[in-house]
Amino acid sequence: MRLHDHLALAVDRKVGWQRLPKPLGLLTLMGLRDNLRRKNLHDTSGYPAQGMPDIEPPAARHLTERTADGSYNDLDNPRMGMARSRFGRNVPPEVTFPEPQPQILTPSPREVSRTLLTRDEFIPATSVNALVAAWLQFMIRDWISHGQGAVDDPWRIELEGDDPWPTSPMLVPRTLPDTTRSEGGDGLPPTHINENSHWWDASQLYGSDLATQRRLRSGAHGKLRVARDGRLFPDAPELDPANTPGFWLGLLMMQHVFILEHNAICDRLGREFPAWSDEQLFQRARLINAALIAKIHTVEWTPAVISHPTTVAALRANWYGLLGERVQRLLGRTSRSELLSGIVGGDTDHFGVPYALTEEFVAVYRMHPWCPTTGASARPWTTRCSRRRISGS
Ligand code: HEM
Repeated sequence: MRLHDHLALAVDRKVGWQRLPKPLGLLTLMGLRDNLRRKNLHDTSGYPAQGMPDIEPPAARHLTERTADGSYNDLDNPRMGMARSRFGRNVPPEVTFPEPQPQILTPSPREVSRTLLTRDEFIPATSVNALVAAWLQFMIRDWISHGQGAVDDPWRIELEGDDPWPTSPMLVPRTLPDTTRSEGGDGLPPTHINENSHWWDASQLYGSDLATQRRLRSGAHGKLRVARDGRLFPDAPELDPANTPGFWLGLLMMQHVFILEHNAICDRLGREFPAWSDEQLFQRARLINAALIAKIHTVEWTPAVISHPTTVAALRANWYGLLGERVQRLLGRTSRSELLSGIVGGDTDHFGVPYALTEEFVAVYRMHPWCPTTGASARPWTTRCSRRRISGS
């Protein structure tokens, strides 16, 4: 296996997996994935901790249902990947100490952004449309949130004279410190908390804590709330998603479609199992809806975006295995191997570290340049919204 991993790295560097015939490309990608699993998963949950969020006592329902906060996905380590646990890292801890000021702002992030990310002309995507951005933003709202940032202690970024940004310096809310680390410092690099559960559990629809989940549920037939006129919180405007930074119509649309999907699943389950309670219907519909979302992302969305024939085959193999969809549908899983029968339903393997999404994962998923912007300056959305939040306008 190690030999295969070494060879994959060498071939990829020399030739590039994308230039190889599909079978060889797939073999190379497998080797690259093994390397990443061995070398690029770094645990931060072992750093000293205090004031961890409470978890409920173990219960039989943890075997068949998701918890609101994502705890008990791993029964041996119930806090693994739960809401308000730490982001992991893909690079070794020793290189994750931030530089002190002023080095950290040198070169200026604004200069980097203007040089590398300014859109001088709109380059249309020819195979996909803006729904691609809406879908991915909908995904990251399930996976990750660093919270709303410290508005009273922002990063101050000095601007060049020709910068069209309306206020100088530019103020960017600072990422909140990890409250589970000791204040005195422990000599280890800083970490941050993921406010959402790290798992692919559709928490953008169901919330990442029980109080939110209760507010989102209708309380009957397992369904989520949605008003007749389509608004989610007609009687509680403070919960209106339009008030959350980053809101736009595309995001709301995805949210809406999958709330309605949840309710449609409840209808179907209710017909099949008329004796089920609101709780049973809700919990089972959530499992189905979350699995549906993960499947759409893996075998439809991602291959549409990374549409190289080798990655399309690799992504389908992630879900169905190399034996393919037809065998999976006819016979179910025929093997324990993730290669032959896919990752879904296979053995659990966290590859040596407790599961957590990572800071690097968040950084690469900030795909704001995907969003069409209007106006000559075509500024990134993020900074535009951050400014609005700081000035309170
Ligand atoms: C109209 C569309 C969008 C708007 C207005 C928007 C706005 C925002 C805002 C205001 C933030 C928080 C502020 C910050 O951390 O800088 C944010 C964070 C983020 N956005 Fe977007 N965004 C949009 C689309 C997208 C899309 C398409 C993606 C693609 C995946 C994306 C990925 C992210 C990520 C990964 C974060 C960091 C989340 C965190 O760590 O808490 N956003 N966005």
